[in-house]
Amino acid sequence: MARVAVVSGGSRGIGAAISKGLHAAGYKVAATYAGNDEAAANFKAETGIPVYKWDVSNYKECAEGLKKVGDDLGPIEILINNAGITRDTMFHKMTPEQWFDVINTNLNSLFNMTRPVIEGMRERGFGRIVNISSINGQKGQMGQTNYTASKAGDIGFTKSLAQENAGKGITVNAVCPGYIATDMVKAVPKEVLEKSVLPLIPLRRLGEPEEVARVVVFLVAEESGFITGSTLSVNGGQYMI
Ligand SMILES: NC(=O)c1ccc[n+]([C@@H]2O[C@H](COP(=O)([O-])OP(=O)(O)OC[C@H]3O[C@@H](n4cnc5c(N)ncnc54)[C@H](OP(=O)(O)O)[C@@H]3O)[C@@H](O)[C@H]2O)c1
Repeated sequence: MARVAVVSGGSRGIGAAISKGLHAAGYKVAATYAGNDEAAANFKAETGIPVYKWDVSNYKECAEGLKKVGDDLGPIEILINNAGITRDTMFHKMTPEQWFDVINTNLNSLFNMTRPVIEGMRERGFGRIVNISSINGQKGQMGQTNYTASKAGDIGFTKSLAQENAGKGITVNAVCPGYIATDMVKAVPKEVLEKSVLPLIPLRRLGEPEEVARVVVFLVAEESGFITGSTLSVNGGQYMI
């Protein structure tokens, strides 16, 4: 029986590439999204992968949504916490809303999405959880105190959860993409990208979403069971840790 995988924010950008990569590898995939119905409908029509709409920053919606996925497709054995947002600004200009939106979507979502599925994974003795963090959670980034705090938090969460569940057949890993060509990065002005970002990347290009998806497909494989608590970089050599 194909294992069931949930990809949050799985209808666009890196998440869409992850959903497609897992689907191609034979998993039963459910892709979640927040509000872009058109992108989700196009994604579903193109791939045949079912989409589910809920807000990862809301615990009740996550618990109910994940139950529905389980009822529709079967027990959730693979969880990819990918959904994320940016609200960039210097800290001295940051509003409480910009801070809490990012922390709730990028960090508190890991509790909201993982808590409802972890007990089932422990009972069944198998689970794969991959959290999409960021290079900027590793190194810090001006104008992103909210985002980098959330992404560094994702890494701490990964390591603790990996330790707690190592004896239960569950692996928990973090992936840290560098600058990847998605809508999120297209929001960065072109001249900033060309003058300030690309010169910092030894490969002198943005990454492709499929290059992140490849790592996720590798981590969730049965054969990757000895890899847990790790943080894998996919950043074109921009930050070596
Ligand atoms: N792109 C990069 O260079 C880069 C680098 C490092 C890390 N990352 C991380 O990689 C992940 C994906 O980034 P991306 O560039 O692919 O982003 P993206 O193109 O902006 O797509 C974000 C996805 O997350 C969903 N989402 C956002 N807020 C949500 C919420 N509250 N509840 C449920 N779903 C929500 C969106 O749903 P809708 O379609 O409904 O809006 C969309 O499917 C993020 O965690 C990001 O921080 C990205």
